[in-house]
Amino acid sequence: VDLTPLHTFGLHAQARNLLVVDDISQLRAFDAEQYFILGEGSNTVFLEDYQGCVVQVRLTGVEVKERASFHEVTVGAGENWHKLVVSLLEAGIHGAENLALIPGTVGAAPIQNIGAYGRELADFCHQVECVDIRTGEMRWLDREQCLFGYRDSVFKQPDMASWLITQVVFRFPKEAKVQAEYGELKSLGTAPTPQQVFNKVVEVRQQKLPDPAKLGNAGSFFKNPVISHQHYLLLKDSWEDIPGFPVDESNTKIPAAWLIDKLGFKGKHVGGVACHANQPLVLVNQGGGTGEELLSLARRIRDEVLGRFSITLENEVRLLGAEGLVRL
Ligand code: FAD
Ligand code: EPU
Repeated sequence: VDLTPLHTFGLHAQARNLLVVDDISQLRAFDAEQYFILGEGSNTVFLEDYQGCVVQVRLTGVEVKERASFHEVTVGAGENWHKLVVSLLEAGIHGAENLALIPGTVGAAPIQNIGAYGRELADFCHQVECVDIRTGEMRWLDREQCLFGYRDSVFKQPDMASWLITQVVFRFPKEAKVQAEYGELKSLGTAPTPQQVFNKVVEVRQQKLPDPAKLGNAGSFFKNPVISHQHYLLLKDSWEDIPGFPVDESNTKIPAAWLIDKLGFKGKHVGGVACHANQPLVLVNQGGGTGEELLSLARRIRDEVLGRFSITLENEVRLLGAEGLVRL
């Protein structure tokens, strides 16, 4: 089965089997030894041919219940995230507008707790339903059990790899404040409407991020690293303009884009794979790129960042090799 159109980075790769799941009863007879659960492939890069079975989640359905103080929305894992955001706004339900235009499915959204422009999924994710594809056991996890963090959740733990998310329940409080304090959103003033926030987020993202339909990419390739204040102050001695955003009493988040930019990687390429000229945190497939080229460029970036700043970059995207997830 050709995986090339099934991931937005678009490297050429094949899988042994593909199971498209639009009804969970299809999982009853599932017995593949090696498998990888896939949504729309916007955070997954198939580096080479995959030996196992790719399980593509296409479960659909959106149900909205109105309660006194919130709307509860239950969504099938295969629904498209951005389409959901649009339909919520049309229904007068706000809270998800900051996460407009993030590619991918609803079911993948809890995996790395998608976030952008001052909001993250954890802010309104109420419960997640999942099924162990090896045994058929179903479970509901509430928000606390999901252990959401920055680009992280319980679903990334290796012992959760066989749990397929089937649906996600969101709660949007009717009185929730519109969040417009992040960077470019500040220009909207103190009380913008959810629609204005949505429009701005879409505008900024279209300016900054390459469209995967035109240029293969998987969004930010690395996570923004979190380092100690002490380490940050030390770096500031040598690099006066290094940006940092405090995350708690002892740690600071550094934009990886700044580190990569400073080392002159913008526009650099290895074969068909390049560091994007406007947003250096995004690696792109200029056409005909290979998994080896991607790993080579990503490792060069990681090694140089470590050498110059003593910061270890971690990949944000999931990298899939012949036998499963690989580390950078
Ligand atoms: P996939 O790539 O198909 O899968 C991602 C991971 O989730 C894999 O490990 C997969 O095994 C697992 N998975 C998928 N579906 C399920 C399921 N139903 N059950 C269990 N496991 C599952 N992310 C952000 O957080 N913020 C951003 O602003 C952002 N911007 C982006 C911009 C661009 C241009 C691109 C290409 C990506 C961006 N991303 C961003 C990353 C991506 O959109 C998200 O990670 C998204 O949630 C991935 O959805 P997907 O369906 O494509 O996931
Ligand atoms: N910067 C540079 N040079 C550049 C571009 C950026 O130095 O050429 C520095 C600037 O200091 C800038 C900073 O990087 O202020 C941050 O850039 P940006 O606002 O574009 O955000 P980001 O840190 O690159 C993160 C997320 C995005 C998310 C945006 C908006 C991660 C890994 N990435 O990007 O998520 O959309 O913030 O909230 O946290 C994704 O996960 O795939 C993704 C795109």
